[in-house]
Amino acid sequence: MDFKEHIRVINDFPKEGISYKDITTLLRNGEVFRASIDALVERIKPWQPEVIVGPEARGFLLGAPLAYALGIGFVPVRKPGKLPGKTVRETYALEYGFDTLAVHADAIAPGTRVVIVDDLLATGGTMLATANLMKKIGADMLGMGFLIELTFLNGREKLTEYPVFSLVQY
Ligand code: PRP
Repeated sequence: MDFKEHIRVINDFPKEGISYKDITTLLRNGEVFRASIDALVERIKPWQPEVIVGPEARGFLLGAPLAYALGIGFVPVRKPGKLPGKTVRETYALEYGFDTLAVHADAIAPGTRVVIVDDLLATGGTMLATANLMKKIGADMLGMGFLIELTFLNGREKLTEYPVFSLVQY
């Protein structure tokens, strides 16, 4: 299936010069949504993960159904102040300023086989921070999968330690 056909591009959002890739048009189509999860399953199943990890918020939209399809658990990585238990945090640089991501410290037992999934690889900052969180809690990082990769932003260069794939490239 050509997923690109179902991703809406909106120019100058959230600011001028940015060509936003809107996945809501893909998600609202049941057949296409299911096909995108099936495509992720096909790529990720051979890695034999025990847990899927997804960063807030769009990582949840793909990560949770993917984990369900694989019959394994899902662990959310969240923006700070959202998780009630003891957390481990990772702060990373944005174009202007910093952002922080957090995961429950006991969410994943050391040595657990983990794959991270997100909708979009742009600069790679979100995924690197998520991978660093996994390192901190001792997960066995198998790789990472994306629905969309913006290749011109070279996010992969931050992730050379891990196998990375994307279903659609711009
Ligand atoms: C978007 C997207 C990825 C991240 C990619 O999330 O869903 O998580 O940006 O960008 P990067 O590779 O440059 O880090 P956003 O921060 O917009 O949050 P959201 O998922 O809550 O909308």
